[in-house]
Amino acid sequence: MELRLSVCILLLLCTAKSSNGGKILVWYTEASHWINMKPVLETLVDRGHQVTVLVPSASLFMNSSEPSRFQYESFDVSVSVKDTQKCFEDIIHFSMYEMDFMNIFQIYIRFLDLMKNNMKVSLKLLDGVVKSETLMKKLKDGNYDLLFADPIYVGSDLTADILGIPLVFSLRFSLAHNIERLCGQLPAPPSFVPGAMSKLTDKMNFSERLWNVLFYTLQDVVLEQFMWKEFDKYYSEFRGKQPISNLRKPRQMDYTKQ
Ligand SMILES: *[C@@H]1O[C@H](CO)[C@@H](O)[C@H](O)[C@H]1NC(C)=O
Ligand SMILES: *[C@@H]1O[C@H](CO)[C@@H](O)[C@H](O)[C@H]1NC(C)=O
Repeated sequence: MELRLSVCILLLLCTAKSSNGGKILVWYTEASHWINMKPVLETLVDRGHQVTVLVPSASLFMNSSEPSRFQYESFDVSVSVKDTQKCFEDIIHFSMYEMDFMNIFQIYIRFLDLMKNNMKVSLKLLDGVVKSETLMKKLKDGNYDLLFADPIYVGSDLTADILGIPLVFSLRFSLAHNIERLCGQLPAPPSFVPGAMSKLTDKMNFSERLWNVLFYTLQDVVLEQFMWKEFDKYYSEFRGKQPISNLRKPRQMDYTKQ
């Protein structure tokens, strides 16, 4: 009995200490990704953190007038709700009605095509954040402790970098962790960490490891050729040109600030 009591007191002391919450800025997302994000945000609020969610004016599923326990920060974008809807419908049509009648190369090519279109809309949404002086000033003045992002919409890394705060992704996402490795500096030695979407698990034999290394290399080459050039141009506008070797180095964290 006494032991139980002291354990209870110990637990109470722990919760008292951890209720010293932080300020969390949340990147915009859509549909199932938003549904996936909400319980995490609820838990953060339960633990005493203050959560502020960015919402674009062309959002389909995020509704800033809905009663909720988080705060919302809305911003205007140059795409309409219809454009975002079209983007979604194309992807759903592809996965439900087209994919089954295509071979692997056709699927890959069509997928890249859809990603490219998605990227254009993504960059327009991103314009609404990083090109808005009012919003960026507001976010800087907000003194957030970190940016929490679902990576389907690009630009959270750029925004975190401009604001000078750490970035946390909610899920692993890109082909062979391409985005997480190159933008988020996730350590992923290819012979040990199975590439996302390679269908491999953490138990790999020699030939699977070999395939995993090839999978990483292949995705890096393809994505560099088909996608990143446009993003590089966009990011260079804000951060200047940096040699790729610099970007791959883990950023030195400044722990003295605490
Ligand atoms: C957003 O939520 C408010 C309040 O619940 C509701 O009146 C409004 O219709 C919603 N808007 C959309 C687009 O769902
Ligand atoms: C490795 O595992 C795969 C899948 O289980 C299997 O098909 C393959 O034969 C294995 N290779 C070796 C060299 O054991």
